[in-house]
Amino acid sequence: MKKFGSPSYLIVVAMIFTAATFLSCEKKKAPVEVKKEHKEPSDWEPTTAELIMGKEVYVAECALCHNHGEEQSPRLGKIMDWEERLKQSPETMIKKSIEGFIGEEGEMPARGGSPYLTDEQMAAAVKFMIATPKH
Ligand code: HEC
Repeated sequence: MKKFGSPSYLIVVAMIFTAATFLSCEKKKAPVEVKKEHKEPSDWEPTTAELIMGKEVYVAECALCHNHGEEQSPRLGKIMDWEERLKQSPETMIKKSIEGFIGEEGEMPARGGSPYLTDEQMAAAVKFMIATPKH
């Protein structure tokens, strides 16, 4: 019990206190931790390059119908036109757009009526349409 009153005990306490203060300072100095979302990339998720290509294709070949819903096509960025369709997988929508289909609304011509478009360009355009924010 004598130890409690001894100066060496006080020194130890002082050291712990100093260390704690030092550590807490260190903590404050540490750079802000950037939280990254760990999302598994799925096959369909477009890269920036794909979105750029997709937008180019869309503007050139798809916008004439899809900007304003010509022939009852789903309009770009309109949630009410897309929410039912988005229940399908992106892969399905890409395949249908390449092959063309007659749906409940009308006819989506094969490759939007532009047969020169490659599968890659079609996939990029559909991904661009899916990725465009919808209101
Ligand atoms: C001549 C008009 C027209 C053009 C041009 C056109 N589309 Fe379409 N598209 C339609 C119509 C109409 C539908 C809706 C068909 C339905 O569901 O009844 C549609 C539907 C779609 C859908 C939804 C598919 C689904 O499964 O619901 C996608 C994706 C699409 N088009 C992509 C494209 C792309 C990409 C291009 C350009 C390369 C393009 N379209 C050009 C008329 C067009």
